[in-house]
Amino acid sequence: MTSLSSISQKEYIQRQHTFLEQCEPNSILVIRSGSETPRSRDTDYPFRQDSDFYYLTGFNEPDAWLILSNRTSNHGDVYRAMAVRPSDPEQEIWHGRRLGVEQAEQQFELDMCFANSEIDDGLLALLDGHDHLYWSLSHHVESDELIQSVISQLKASRTAHAPDRIIDWQPKLHAMRLIKSEAEIALMQKAADISCEAHKRAMTAAKSVGFEYQLAAEIHHTFAMHGASAPAYNSIVGSGDNACILHYTENTDELTHGDLVLIDAGAEFQGYAADITRTFPISGVFSEAQGNLYNLVLDAQAAALDVLGPRRTLAQAGEVAIEVLTQGLVDLGILQGDVDGLISEKAYRRFYMHGLGHWLGLDVHDVGVYKLEGKDRPLLAGMVLTVEPGLYVPNEPDIPKAYRGIGIRIEDNIVITEDGHHILTDKVPKSVAAIEALMAGKA
Ligand code: GLY
Ligand code: MN
Ligand code: MN
Repeated sequence: MTSLSSISQKEYIQRQHTFLEQCEPNSILVIRSGSETPRSRDTDYPFRQDSDFYYLTGFNEPDAWLILSNRTSNHGDVYRAMAVRPSDPEQEIWHGRRLGVEQAEQQFELDMCFANSEIDDGLLALLDGHDHLYWSLSHHVESDELIQSVISQLKASRTAHAPDRIIDWQPKLHAMRLIKSEAEIALMQKAADISCEAHKRAMTAAKSVGFEYQLAAEIHHTFAMHGASAPAYNSIVGSGDNACILHYTENTDELTHGDLVLIDAGAEFQGYAADITRTFPISGVFSEAQGNLYNLVLDAQAAALDVLGPRRTLAQAGEVAIEVLTQGLVDLGILQGDVDGLISEKAYRRFYMHGLGHWLGLDVHDVGVYKLEGKDRPLLAGMVLTVEPGLYVPNEPDIPKAYRGIGIRIEDNIVITEDGHHILTDKVPKSVAAIEALMAGKA
């Protein structure tokens, strides 16, 4: 996540207003950024901003606070404040540049900005007089105590008025994050394009490298060369039956000619994730059994994609994928019995144990509820999701030998449009013929 967001300041401020418009009158929102996480002694893990804070601010420094009020102020109907790390030449020599209070006030067009060391007094002054406090308990558990202390102090004061309701900001904010703006979709397209390039590079390199981690390196090289700061999640490079371990991230095994390799890897670009899986033969050519199973997963994905559009649901597409997969498993002799019966007893679960997809955005498993009032949520234009059927055949004696230990997933990212969907990740080959052509140097 770089600090240079190509989303305009206007859009961030609009998001803040949109949030406040949904709040009770006389409400105040307090939301804080992430902090550095120590790895050992004085070494930290790479900093990754809190996605909710980033969504509202585009600010990529740790230990900052955003405070928004919809109580009438001198500047209109909204009061916007932040607390940030103050400039500190000594700290900045050791740990890097800071925007500082004055520049943050200007850049974020704030009513007030102050040093984060003053947050206790700042909150005491800003919360006073509000009826409702939007704060997400346990989101940053280390700050819950501070909020409680501020409220206690306001309650104890004869002249102050403490908020009498604490409301979690997550449902409102996460509903906003679920519908992506044009600017967000442009960034997600960029994350997807970089990730497609990376998968193509890995396919091209597969015959000439020896280990799973070397394919991961090909992927990560492409991410970096295109300005993607990091993978959006730990990359999975599972060859042979490692592909049957859904979250296999060791990536340590030697590649074996004749096996498939499953790569689930996506770039993070300006905070936004891509999440692509492709499965292909290390030799460049699918065996008959590998091709049969691969085409079955591909058919399931195509059938699911046919369903996905506005007013449809992810669950409907999930059911269609299960029908195709179950019928195919019977046709290949991997499952025996009546297809409807096998579906109702969930026999496919032995081979396909995850859902069809998930929301995608600033987080790879992005926020937003999947059900509304107990019913599957209808899709709307601007929602971005993955479509990722798979089959993971265990190496067990009752399975036809040719299929044992094969794991296949095909995962694409789509945005729902007014009249259907747009596939963000269609620049990396997916059919058997297209993959084999690329690997043969013919594409
Ligand atoms: N890469 C994680 C997932 O596909 O959900
Ligand atoms: Mn994935
Ligand atoms: Mn996924």
